[in-house]
Amino acid sequence: MIDLSGSPAPWPDEATRLWADRVGRAARQSDLWTVPAPQGDEVLREVLAAQLALPVEQLTITASLRAAALTYARRFGHVALERPTYPGVVPVLAGAGAQVTRASWDELLKGAFGGEPWDTVLWFTSPGRNPDGRTLTGQERSRIAELAAEGHRVVVNETYAWFCGQAGTPAGADSVGTLHKLRGVGARLGWMAGPGCFEEAFPELLGTPPSPVWQRAWGLFLRDGGLDLLRDGLLAQVDIAKDAFRDRLASAHGIEFPAFDGPNALIPLDPRASEAPTPTAEQLEESALAALHEEGFKAVAARHFDAERPALRATFFGVGAAEAIRFADAVARSPRTALRLRCQGHT
Ligand SMILES: Cc1ncc(COP(=O)(O)O)c(C=O)c1O
Repeated sequence: MIDLSGSPAPWPDEATRLWADRVGRAARQSDLWTVPAPQGDEVLREVLAAQLALPVEQLTITASLRAAALTYARRFGHVALERPTYPGVVPVLAGAGAQVTRASWDELLKGAFGGEPWDTVLWFTSPGRNPDGRTLTGQERSRIAELAAEGHRVVVNETYAWFCGQAGTPAGADSVGTLHKLRGVGARLGWMAGPGCFEEAFPELLGTPPSPVWQRAWGLFLRDGGLDLLRDGLLAQVDIAKDAFRDRLASAHGIEFPAFDGPNALIPLDPRASEAPTPTAEQLEESALAALHEEGFKAVAARHFDAERPALRATFFGVGAAEAIRFADAVARSPRTALRLRCQGHT
């Protein structure tokens, strides 16, 4: 089975060896076991700040992206959440007491989301939004800066900055993110950065982030060559697989698949290819998933991300160029995908 459903790829042995060595070093540093570090371990903060172009004094280590979401939901009554988006934030925001409404980037940028500015968080993911690989343009970033200047709290989930390069957080917005996509949910580390983040997140920071020993191990690993190993391995592999997928669609099938940032892309589906006269998104997506599954590919239904149209999400983690080419052939041949229609200007 070729898995495009989004599980991060395992690390090469060299990266695992370096990581294990740095866990040992961190464990032998006695102050890490006894001195609290509520804003996070200094080595990890420095390395993340440098890599993500964030001010180190504002960078705060959290237990995960979803842990950072808890803080906003506790402090603000209303979160205007982009759609589509990573769905894992929804139960966290709502469960922590915020009213969550959904809006497209266009609606958010136009100010069409309701709620008082002082009580409202606007939530974007960029660069390389999950699930569609979209990145804020220069104009959109300027509009975000205006909204922030008008008093809205704007949060940008920059989790995929590792995969796309970093244009810098829009002026006036907070950056949040996670290390989860570099290894898996077991990484259990994230960040928030903004002028008030540390003070606002203090209750969560007292109670939830992983041990400073764990944080230092990650900091040493990333600083001492781990990030370069991941860049040359995991991250480079994503680019190779994406390029192979798009090149194959263009060269062998005459399909121009739009460029997307980061590892995730949406493959649109064609309602006319369904047996049912007026199929639901669920019917279309499930039948396309089942057909791809029979051919040996695993993807994810886009409705889970609140996508506007029926589609499948493919994530190019841990697949080689040959597998990406086979996937391109499968989606091009499939009567269920709408790639050919879109390419001919019908959708
Ligand atoms: C955009 C985005 N943010 C955050 C996460 C999860 O982060 P965490 O496990 O740190 O909450 C994911 C996982 O798929 C994601 O796609």
